[in-house]
Amino acid sequence: MRTEQPKMIYLKDYQVPDYLIDETHLTFELYEDHSLVHAQLVMRRNPDAGAGLPPLVLDGQQLELLELKLDDRPLGAGDYQLSDSHLTLQPTQERFVIDSSVRIHPESNTALEGLYKSGSMFCTQCEAEGFRKITYYLDRPDVMSKFTTTVSAEQHAYPVLLSNGNPIASGVEEGGRHWATWEDPFKKPAYLFALVAGDLWCVEDSFTTMSGREVALRIYVEPENIDKCQHAMDSLKKSMKWDEEVYGREYDLDIFMIVAVNDFNMGAMENKGLNIFNSSCVLAKADTATDAAHQRVEAVVAHEYFHNWSGNRVTCRDWFQLSLKEGFTVFRDAEFSADMNSRTVKRIEDVAYLRTHQFAEDAGPMAHPVRPDAFIEISNFYTLTVYEKGSEVLRMIHTLLGSETFRKGSDLYFERHDGQAVTCDDFIQAMEDASGRDLSQFKRWYTQAGTPRLAVSEAFDAATRTYSLTFRQSCPATPGQNDKLPFVIPVELGLLDAQGQDLPLRLQGERAAVGRSRVLSVTEAEQTFTFVDMPAKPLPSLLRGFSAPVKLSFPYSRDQLMFLMQHDSDGFNRWEAGQQLSVQVLQELIGQQQRGETMQLDQRLVTALRSLLENDRLDQAMVAEMLSLPGEGYLTEISEVADVDAIHSAREFARQQLAEALFEPLWQRYQANRKLSRNTPYVAEAAHFARRSLQNIALSYLMLTERAEVLAACLEQYEVCDNMTERLTALAVLVGSNFDTEKAEALTAFAEHFKDNPLVMDQWFSVQAACTLPGGLARVQQLMQHPAFTLKNPNKVRALIGAFAGQNPVNFHAVDGSGYRFLSDQVIILNALNPQIAARLLAPLTRWAKYDSNRQGLMKAELQRILASGELSSDVFEVVSKSLAG
Ligand code: TRP
Ligand code: ZN
Repeated sequence: MRTEQPKMIYLKDYQVPDYLIDETHLTFELYEDHSLVHAQLVMRRNPDAGAGLPPLVLDGQQLELLELKLDDRPLGAGDYQLSDSHLTLQPTQERFVIDSSVRIHPESNTALEGLYKSGSMFCTQCEAEGFRKITYYLDRPDVMSKFTTTVSAEQHAYPVLLSNGNPIASGVEEGGRHWATWEDPFKKPAYLFALVAGDLWCVEDSFTTMSGREVALRIYVEPENIDKCQHAMDSLKKSMKWDEEVYGREYDLDIFMIVAVNDFNMGAMENKGLNIFNSSCVLAKADTATDAAHQRVEAVVAHEYFHNWSGNRVTCRDWFQLSLKEGFTVFRDAEFSADMNSRTVKRIEDVAYLRTHQFAEDAGPMAHPVRPDAFIEISNFYTLTVYEKGSEVLRMIHTLLGSETFRKGSDLYFERHDGQAVTCDDFIQAMEDASGRDLSQFKRWYTQAGTPRLAVSEAFDAATRTYSLTFRQSCPATPGQNDKLPFVIPVELGLLDAQGQDLPLRLQGERAAVGRSRVLSVTEAEQTFTFVDMPAKPLPSLLRGFSAPVKLSFPYSRDQLMFLMQHDSDGFNRWEAGQQLSVQVLQELIGQQQRGETMQLDQRLVTALRSLLENDRLDQAMVAEMLSLPGEGYLTEISEVADVDAIHSAREFARQQLAEALFEPLWQRYQANRKLSRNTPYVAEAAHFARRSLQNIALSYLMLTERAEVLAACLEQYEVCDNMTERLTALAVLVGSNFDTEKAEALTAFAEHFKDNPLVMDQWFSVQAACTLPGGLARVQQLMQHPAFTLKNPNKVRALIGAFAGQNPVNFHAVDGSGYRFLSDQVIILNALNPQIAARLLAPLTRWAKYDSNRQGLMKAELQRILASGELSSDVFEVVSKSLAG
């Protein structure tokens, strides 16, 4: 915990490091009640940093300094200064060697940053600034060094000793200990350092790279999980192949390792040659992991692997540039997943997530640009904005340049900056140089926060056969940014004729039509595009594929949306038309509910969904997506003031009505798919995901009718299936139902069966935490007493408390403020245990501006209470103080 008031760090204050570290030689002696770290740093004055020999200021936190030497000369207390975050000494020559020995306590490290223990295993997490909790160092990404690492530990408990790079030596010591030395031939920043020691088994495979080199692949897990690694291994090989084919990127070491750990703050970490993963992002097997979990494993394995180039070979100059590696790598993994599965479905899922969560962040008190310009605690900036909006920014560049030119740009970027620590500007420069285009206005996407609005209007002139679209863009104020300049907004669009065909698109001034779906660049605050040769007034299909992360509005009628749902040649926009139709219908119901009128569902929604269900030529995954009404989170996000209860009852009312009206086709599709599922062994492939997703959404509607035959089918699906996708959905719909006996029995049986599998128990907690029936808080508090729950494991915290606060709005936002008080109680406890998790858990409370004044007051009071609760971590302090200021 800090002793000084946390201070703001600014991008504009960036300075190159005074000193460089050419070589880093580390020795770890791991023991049960402490560990020793010896570091030898071969250093020199940075020639780019000016003249003279300024003091050397090394980062270090929670380290007990045992010994310090400068060029082999022991230093006494008068030769250096120590604070709780730095070690300062005075070099006397341009080149010198520092030797330090420190004692640290991984066995009691609950923050899961630096060196810590997960179960019986030692592991590390150094990004962003965790290395300074391991040894004194220049812990900044523009200091890149060659590392050798020796690890010594008791042999019986820790037979496997790993670090980055290649193993070069090993041996045994007296007293039952052994050691191993690893050498990483690539220079890297300290945040990519990793070490693992434990009793691990591994699954082995190999990959032959495009130049014919053989790479050993190993996935290390605790012995009981050895049967759950195949999917991750398959995903890894697919990723390696894809990066060669799509980006021309080859792997560069002889070995690539993944280690699964149970206690991890995020999804996974791209340490050079030694990725460390949250076990939830590695382990996947039909009977314990859902389809969604399988797809997440595939995506995260790819993401971390892709970082080897976008992040490791070319890294970030400073943490303000985080999106340089994260936005780019998310874009790369999203394209990979699109190629491996269904492209349209992947896009729908990503956009739904972005619009619900990132748009909310961008409208809240923590809003920041893709490249932030100030922060207190960098851990708080691993955000949806840096990751997901950052990926959208890359996607827009890809859209504007086209895939061939984009590839030329990425080739140039990797070639020009290999081995360097660079900025987002360097990336854009490479794209400009490869394309010959000026991206200076485009760069506003990196510097201006907030979600732009794009209001579109139309005008048709029958006499001149012209059709004009006028775009007006604006961007709301965000903290520290009031006036924004216009963005470059790529709008992919088509114009449909009365039969639903895309018309040829010829803009005024063009000699001929250019395709039937094309990208317009909107660059002005207000801009009109006029299409010629229009025989009649067309219907526009705008922002196809969600070509820009904006809030688009166009005055569509419900009939027009139904037409687009049926005819749009762009699959994403067919889904989008359905969503917008549902939004209109739901908002009408919300209004009726608020005025105390009886709710009346617009039957056009029933008609539209019926025709989807009755059309068996459609992609089943698309039908499933289109049957899913916009979530309560999205409906909240698009409300001026969100009425949690009205949103919930309106949506539930619509689901109930749809279930009754569409009972027959839902029941038919359910039974047909369920029959196939029963007769087909589990396969983790897109067509099977599609079948199960339609089956499961059908079941979730059908159960609302509470008919006996549906209950029987649900129980049968729960009992008789070979996979977690069917089992968990059956459990979830039971939990959401009023069949109390069956629900209790299923929950007990499930917990009994899976009590030894923590990842499955996480799902058991989540399903209950997200249940919107009354009494949610009491159920969650009860579950916190369950033996499988612990606040020390981030997955458990997310599964129970995170799911309650994030996915159960009616219960979390209870008018008496009990949900808020519960959450802040947990944040206060977690602040001392694990600041990163505490700060993340806070997100729902930061959204107070969305709610009525009573709730606003209650939420702010809880934020005040956290602020006054004692000594806060910089993580929690930043989120709370900014939320109260906003
Ligand atoms: N770089 C990691 C990624 O792939 C992010 C990450 C993993 C991280 N663990 C972390 C960030 C801990 C901060 C703290 O996205
Ligand atoms: Zn990443």
